[in-house]
Amino acid sequence: HFATVEMAPGDPILGLTEAYLADPRPNKVNLGVGIYVDEHGRIPLLRAVREVEQALAAEAKPRGYLPIDGLAAYDALSQQLLFGADSPLLAAGRVATAQTIGGSGALRVGADLLKKVLPKARIAISSPSWENHRVVFGNAGFEVIDYRYYDPSTHGLDFAGMLEDLGRLEPGTVVLLHACCHNPTGVDPDAQQWQQVVDLVKARDLLPFVDIAYQGFDQGIDADATAIRLFAASGIDAFVVASSYSKSFSLYGERVGALSMVGADRDEAARLRAKIKQTIRANYSSPATHGGALVAGVLGSAELRAMWEAELAEMRERIHAMRAGLVEKLAVHGAPQFGFIQQQAGMFSYSGLSRAQVDRLREEYGIYALGTGRICVAALNRGNLDVVAQAVAAVSR
Ligand code: LMR
Repeated sequence: HFATVEMAPGDPILGLTEAYLADPRPNKVNLGVGIYVDEHGRIPLLRAVREVEQALAAEAKPRGYLPIDGLAAYDALSQQLLFGADSPLLAAGRVATAQTIGGSGALRVGADLLKKVLPKARIAISSPSWENHRVVFGNAGFEVIDYRYYDPSTHGLDFAGMLEDLGRLEPGTVVLLHACCHNPTGVDPDAQQWQQVVDLVKARDLLPFVDIAYQGFDQGIDADATAIRLFAASGIDAFVVASSYSKSFSLYGERVGALSMVGADRDEAARLRAKIKQTIRANYSSPATHGGALVAGVLGSAELRAMWEAELAEMRERIHAMRAGLVEKLAVHGAPQFGFIQQQAGMFSYSGLSRAQVDRLREEYGIYALGTGRICVAALNRGNLDVVAQAVAAVSR
């Protein structure tokens, strides 16, 4: 039966982690996958999360199935984080939210659902985008088209190109937008530019699908949700949000995400909720209990939420410090051309390194980066900063 199955290529991100793990060199550094590690090179287990986890362990609750759309408290608290606690959309009951298996689960459920209800729509994604966006929407049956986004000559946003391409899309086209900390480039529109994007999307009758996987990793919880808040205030009657707690709660393997769909009114949102549940049931039936309980436990307690916000701020500030530190060290090692890394936001930087330079980094120095030149600056710390800067400077000569 399986004799004709061909070898599939390795995943460009998770496949690189496999190679990194197999590398015996003790000083290796993984700047590939988007995982935040602390000053000691470890993935943090946040104190607020630990408190909830200990309470849960003491309770020793049975593990029945969650509802198809997850924990009700998780869904409600997620909505408040995304749209703002005083959001008129929430008050009007216009948002349907379901807990999903990570942000990827939210994307896939959203993609499957949209394909069913809008079978002719195409989706436009930024050039470049997270590699898996194309794959998820492509596998859901979408034709994927690109819009201009990144300008390699400035290492910044090609805003004119972005507006021009979005302005040419057919009405009804789904537009995937990264709310903050754009993956892979680290380049985001500012608030004014977001307003222009929102105005254009509304005028052209496009359907925004906002992916927010790094809320709180650049400027803060509310500031990083600017795109969502502006769409909410714009008066458009439909948009979609896929969100993730992998990074902001450091709960990668717990697979905690959410899909939120905004409808024109309460009745439309109720129908969207039913559709989301139908789609989840056909995909993986219902989400997992543990991660959802951790997030809901933290967000539902004023004290733990404050603790989490402080820990999130710590992660954000450490990333900013690592960006500054890398730029400084690169200059010391004779590569002053990387100043733009400090302007970029979030976990990632499009370094401008070529595939050949990335290969040299891996082969000669045991430093792993994506073939596109994307590096995860959140994996840097005082212990590896100098080694990385020296190696990047060396391959850039
Ligand atoms: C990344 O881009 O490295 C992360 O979002 C992890 C992943 O699933 O690819």
